[in-house]
Amino acid sequence: MKIFRTKSINMLKEGAEQKRLKKSLGAVDLVLLGIGCIIGTGIFVLTGVAAAKYAGPGIMLSFILSGLACAFAALAYAELAAIVPIAGSAYTYTYAALGEIIAWIVGWNLVLEYSVGSSAVAAGWSGYVVGLLKAGGIELPKAFTAVPAEGGIVNLPAMLIALFLSVLLVRGTKESVTLNKILVVVKLAAVFIFLALAGPKVNPANWSPLMPYGFSGVAAGAAIIFFAYIGFDAVATAAEECRNPNRDLPVGIIGSLVACTMLYIVVAGVLTGVVPYQELNNAEPVAYALRAIGYNFGSALVGTGAIAGITTVLLVLMYGQTRVFFAMSRDGLIPASICKVHPKYGTPHVITIVAGVVVALIAGFTPIGIIAELTNIGTLFAFVVAAIGVYVLRYTRPDIHRPFKCPAVPLVAPLAVLSCGYLMVNLPAETWVRFGIWSAIGLVVYFVYSYRNSVLNTTKTVNEQ
Ligand code: ALA
Repeated sequence: MKIFRTKSINMLKEGAEQKRLKKSLGAVDLVLLGIGCIIGTGIFVLTGVAAAKYAGPGIMLSFILSGLACAFAALAYAELAAIVPIAGSAYTYTYAALGEIIAWIVGWNLVLEYSVGSSAVAAGWSGYVVGLLKAGGIELPKAFTAVPAEGGIVNLPAMLIALFLSVLLVRGTKESVTLNKILVVVKLAAVFIFLALAGPKVNPANWSPLMPYGFSGVAAGAAIIFFAYIGFDAVATAAEECRNPNRDLPVGIIGSLVACTMLYIVVAGVLTGVVPYQELNNAEPVAYALRAIGYNFGSALVGTGAIAGITTVLLVLMYGQTRVFFAMSRDGLIPASICKVHPKYGTPHVITIVAGVVVALIAGFTPIGIIAELTNIGTLFAFVVAAIGVYVLRYTRPDIHRPFKCPAVPLVAPLAVLSCGYLMVNLPAETWVRFGIWSAIGLVVYFVYSYRNSVLNTTKTVNEQ
């Protein structure tokens, strides 16, 4: 069996859309693109969950740990993204570097990043919508706004937003750069209004003890709020549209990571400073904190901004999923029929709707913490493999043109592997079990379907050249 057969870089580029994308993006555009995809449910919801359950006020340190892991992974990721600047992200890159079966495993785990991640984001969206309506005097019954594990029957708002956005995606709502910029401004405004209102009310006594569950709590918190950084890889996938990828890509990726990390640390500090961390385990901790200190209107304002911001993240993640599936079906690893393009709208409608229904079902019935942890383990795994891929390609293909080179790769790639691995190790045992089951199902699908239907069966592979 030739399960480690690879696709050549040229095959990848030829297989992809022939259309050339316009090289119009500069470093600032990339930073904004990054912020648009990054700031969402992670900071607005999971910060509270992670602080209450694991890290306490030490959640500020958790954001530094997680941000560092992302920075190493991002540098490595950007090198691959610039070599193979086509759809499919880490899946596509590993196909060239490490072979088909590893690419399959990565693609399979990207489903966790994008689809399961979308479910967590939809659940976060629901928390703010329900909270905002409640503050406005409309109380929706808990049975239809909470998952069974939290005393409800179904989280209906989360399901509805996922389904609504998949219909929009079928109709071809592309992420427009202008809309993204507006929503980034709205989202940042929400964050800054929160800081301006709550900042002066911080009571430093709430920060003590800083690490109620010790450093292991901080590490566990870092593993959860890694979710808040997911999306920076979207910046790397814009490599093809950069005017000057060698300079702008690292600036864009690192710039958006640094900006988000700083905001996250400050928000986490203020959040745990205005209310005792134990109170933050709720569906809308940022709005809750403002209400707790008497800012009802400010809370509604920030809640509205959070809803707008979380919506864009959801749209980007759901769109990302269809792109990964599209790349996999082009390679024959999943049936082409489910990725066929709608005659009128020109979008892969079948897979978009199927993915939307799956996202809705997961969001409707599973607690947000569980889905966020599963998303993280899958994404971290994909980053670990991508970082190894960068290193391997440097040796196996030193000749290829690298529009962006990861600095100090012998140091950065192993650091990416170690730091992402460290976060994975800090996720709960049940998450590992779920991850194991998911991976095992993936391997069965690979051997039963994908290996036999891969387009590489009819093409000469790099290993045979
Ligand atoms: N980073 C994204 C969020 O926090 C996925 O919503």
